[in-house]
Amino acid sequence: MKITVVGAGAVGATCADNIARRELAEELVLLDIKEGFAEGKALDMMQTATLLGFNTKVSGSTNDYSKTADSNVVVITSGIPRKPGMTREELIGTNANIVKGVVENILKYSPDAIIVVISNPMDTMTYLALKSSGLPKNRIIGMGGILDSARFKCYLSLALDCSPNDLQGVVIGGHGDTTMIPLTRLATMNSFPVSNLLDGEALKKVAADTMVGGATLTGLLGTSAWYAPGAAGAALVESIVRDQKKVFPCCVSLSGEYGQDDICMGVPVVIGKNGWEKIIDYKLNEEEQAAFNKSAEAVRNMNQVLRDSHVI
Ligand code: 2OP
Repeated sequence: MKITVVGAGAVGATCADNIARRELAEELVLLDIKEGFAEGKALDMMQTATLLGFNTKVSGSTNDYSKTADSNVVVITSGIPRKPGMTREELIGTNANIVKGVVENILKYSPDAIIVVISNPMDTMTYLALKSSGLPKNRIIGMGGILDSARFKCYLSLALDCSPNDLQGVVIGGHGDTTMIPLTRLATMNSFPVSNLLDGEALKKVAADTMVGGATLTGLLGTSAWYAPGAAGAALVESIVRDQKKVFPCCVSLSGEYGQDDICMGVPVVIGKNGWEKIIDYKLNEEEQAAFNKSAEAVRNMNQVLRDSHVI
């Protein structure tokens, strides 16, 4: 198994670090455009091998895609991150051309790779990867919902003063401060609805905190977060390479599911060796479906920017 992570910034490097620690591949390549940067991060990681007890060979490359040849899975984190006060959507002008170029280069050397997109605005970058590559839709997966769901469970655990590992909770829709939809109705603590444990106000606050989860961190850190995004990317990669068939909310191409078409958005999917293998229908109620439709409208407007600027 060979995995490439494109972009050796904080998110890419953290994702790669998690991939190495979990020995998800024999070979892991980190690639970046900044001279020597990916090589440096890779060497630093390799020097943890005997301390952490992993055998994955980690190497770095300055924009030489031949080093990524025959990767089974490629994670794209390239592009600029958010600064405080910025939305993910404001990154589109810069990141669209970067992501398009990365996808082209990757496919030259790894035509059979499954592609995981983390770059923002993620839903639109996933759509761009799908449209510009012409790959089968199951091989393009956007990582956002896993991260948002992890944040949702984190805030729920703080509100309930319980272990986050006893919680099930899913965030669907777009990966944007106003487009994501934490499904509070369906969240449970060991199968018991959390709506029986928290009042409406408390649940609303958990949902609101989740939605601005990334922005809160950007405000605190001065740039966007990396531990949870990197770990979420690695969890997605693990389900692919180990064919775990885990159900994660991921951004995938919809063809009528959840009432939407010609769009990539976050819905619960089964993740295995073929990429995303099946969409699970959570039977949204009217209010949730209305929120999903509204979210789709915002994502669609963002996708239109790709057409208006002739990126696709
Ligand atoms: C986040 O939400 C980077 O989009 C990512 O932190």
